Amino acid sequence: MLSDLRAIVGDDHVFDGRGSSHVDDWTGRFRGHTDVVVRPGSTDEVREVLRVVRAHGRVVVAQGGNTGLVGGGVPLSGEVVMSLTRLNHVGVPDVAARQIEVGAGATVEAVQQAAAAVGLRYPVDFGSRGSATIGGTIATNAGGVNVLRYGSTRAQVVGLEAVLADGSIVSTMAGLMKDNTGYDLRGLMCGSEGTLGIITKAVLRLVPAHEHRETVMVGCASVDDALDVVTMVCGASESIDAAELMTRRGVDLVAEVVGAHRPFEAEWYLLIESSTSREADGTLARLLERRDPVAVADSPGRREALWRLRDEHTSSIATLGVPLKYDVTVPLRSMSDFVSDARTAVSAFDPEAEVIVFGHAADGNLHVNVIGANLEDHRGFDAAVLGAVSRFGGSISAEHGIGVAKREWLHLSRSADEIAVMRAIKRALDPDGVLNPNVLLPADGSN
Ligand code: FAD
Ligand code: LAC
Ligand code: ZN
Repeated sequence: MLSDLRAIVGDDHVFDGRGSSHVDDWTGRFRGHTDVVVRPGSTDEVREVLRVVRAHGRVVVAQGGNTGLVGGGVPLSGEVVMSLTRLNHVGVPDVAARQIEVGAGATVEAVQQAAAAVGLRYPVDFGSRGSATIGGTIATNAGGVNVLRYGSTRAQVVGLEAVLADGSIVSTMAGLMKDNTGYDLRGLMCGSEGTLGIITKAVLRLVPAHEHRETVMVGCASVDDALDVVTMVCGASESIDAAELMTRRGVDLVAEVVGAHRPFEAEWYLLIESSTSREADGTLARLLERRDPVAVADSPGRREALWRLRDEHTSSIATLGVPLKYDVTVPLRSMSDFVSDARTAVSAFDPEAEVIVFGHAADGNLHVNVIGANLEDHRGFDAAVLGAVSRFGGSISAEHGIGVAKREWLHLSRSADEIAVMRAIKRALDPDGVLNPNVLLPADGSN
């Protein structure tokens, strides 16, 4: 197989994965192994690689930046790793159509920069922007801090090319805004976690880069207090991009780990940002002027400092050890009760474990990080946190996906009929189970 693969992609792009960064995940929780990492450089090479891998009876895990947080991109069972990072072409934005064509291996940051160069913006944004790839973000339907205004990755994908397990190609690269010609194959790839096809290219929607931004940090007494602020600003302004929730513990930790400055002390922090094309009229600052404490970013440097406190949460938490990470949505009205129920359930299971919560407040999306847990006991923690999610009618994955971390809990968010439909789709597109067979759907026979 190795010589067949080398003949397709060249000697430099096939290697033994042992000891490489391709076998472990970003969190350090999921450690895999593989004897083959292959890096195709074109759609044709992806197709040929799949043909060879199939011929040798092997299966494949697609990998982009390997920043995923649910263990979905690592070869836990010795799968061949297909790294797509060489497909990193970033086209020139089409300013009239507000679109850009990019390879699946282009990073989110590279796309943001290309858009900014022509006065546009790629609105998907989060802390791993420098490494996360477009293919990975489509495969996980990644969210981030601007979902409130612009939607998840799915909402940005106006064109897509993917190679299916049998080598057939699904391509909708014309970037048509309207196309009602049957099943939405492009949409099906969003959130498919490498199980239905290898994404090779995409056409992405861009939005205007509003010049005038307001960024304000507000101190809040409780989750409900923070939600009242979110409801008020979103009701009064159509220009809110982000509303990010953090705790005192989280902000203190980031301040300590990265040496960042806290503008004030509070139990809960809410970071709100708006952007408009008009001259900044102080709308956000005015709406929040009666709040105390409050910090208004009056310079780009100040804005960056406030965002650092938010962006560095995941990496700062990682310095405390390998966390169990839960990425959930609950109905907005239940957020406060969910936080206290989840905390109570975790300490009932293990009084030593610590919980740090943060997230995207307006989306009802909370990142619940359990620190100091014995990872072997993850099922008890899973049951504590995801059980609480289920009681409130929430989703066990808001934006990171199911991967291997949540697959045995899919039934908490999807009915048996829905899981059966998903299995039927998987069988139809990948009958031999060649593409990432160990993620997303529960292991055969369970649920
Ligand atoms: P990988 O980790 O390489 O892969 C993820 C999944 O996609 C795997 O199942 C893999 O098989 C599949 N895949 C990858 N490329 C392809 C392809 N070309 N074709 C088919 N399948 C493919 N996520 C959010 O949603 N919101 C956030 O705010 C956010 N913040 C983060 C902050 C930090 C510091 C970190 C480390 C992670 C964060 N993430 C966030 C998680 C992560 O960055 C996203 O899940 C991202 O979409 C993964 O992209 P990737 O290229 O690294 O994919
Ligand atoms: C964030 C990631 C963890 O919001 O989703 O920072
Ligand atoms: Zn997030």
